[in-house]
Amino acid sequence: MLIKRSPNGIELPFSSEITPRAVFEARRSFIRQAAVGAVSSAALLEMMNREAFAQGTHPKLAAKLNPAYSALDKQTAYKDATTYNNFYEFGTDKSDPAQNAGTLRTRPWTVAIEGEVKKPMTLDLDALLKLAPLEERVYRLRCVEGWSMVIPWVGYSFSEIIKKVEPTGNAKYVEFITLADNKQMPGVGSRVLQWPYTEGLRIDEANHPLALLTLGMYGETLPNQNGAPVRMVLPWKYGFKSAKSIVKIRFVKDQPRTSWNLSAPSEYGFYSNVNPNVDHPRWSQASERRIGEDGFLARKRKTLMYNGYNDVASLYAGMDLKKFF
Ligand code: MTE
Repeated sequence: MLIKRSPNGIELPFSSEITPRAVFEARRSFIRQAAVGAVSSAALLEMMNREAFAQGTHPKLAAKLNPAYSALDKQTAYKDATTYNNFYEFGTDKSDPAQNAGTLRTRPWTVAIEGEVKKPMTLDLDALLKLAPLEERVYRLRCVEGWSMVIPWVGYSFSEIIKKVEPTGNAKYVEFITLADNKQMPGVGSRVLQWPYTEGLRIDEANHPLALLTLGMYGETLPNQNGAPVRMVLPWKYGFKSAKSIVKIRFVKDQPRTSWNLSAPSEYGFYSNVNPNVDHPRWSQASERRIGEDGFLARKRKTLMYNGYNDVASLYAGMDLKKFF
């Protein structure tokens, strides 16, 4: 298999053996046009993504491993990470997103960044892909339901976005608003949550280098069920803080309301840092099951404060984390 690399880091796979001839030829002509600059890399990604659905593969995203931010734990199998998901816009069962998210159209896609910033802007995927060098970071992600995964994500620190839009002195929080389109997302018709799925961070949390604006995983663009084309990954917080399929980012003065907090305020606080000392009313947070590691009857792992990411501790100095859970 030949791998060609384009200037923006998207790798172009050629695999005539597994591709129907017509598709292969159309792709070749498209790539020839791309090579002479006749199409944008976002259009190229769109074409490749359409093909990915047909073939169950995704375009490659070249990224340099950032060892300082990478866990050495055994990585979760791609199959587990892409078939055991929470993405309620596509249903509430873990297997629903992988089955239903094929209807999500991820190209064209824009993210509007607005509110308390000197330079509001709307970025398309091309602009997002080029905004900063892409890094691979292997993060542990722990869900409040008591399971965890270890995934090699691709993206860059959200602080790169903050630098670009220049928040005003009034910007104390960042709100992440995701797509809610009932034509593409069957779950948006249900009342399980208030839509759009919305999350938020204090601005210093958003500025922490661990907060990852994520465009890919396992060296490829994000599968739809994992929040394509752009999501956050916040490894020291419970998984639900990591909003998927983001369309708007607002810098705001007041602490934003968030979907899970609106639905069950006593169960889901604004901070939601991984904390083995504060149990969720329905689930202990003292230990966790690593997905795919040893099966359902497996020994559990002890959950670590901040999921083991102690770098963030100074963000919460002096705060009572039982009160601010
Ligand atoms: N983002 C949106 N838009 N909708 C969701 O339902 N679920 C959250 C979070 N982001 C969710 C979301 C929850 S509960 C978790 S645990 C993580 O996504 C799961 O991410 P993963 O499926 O990639 O592991």
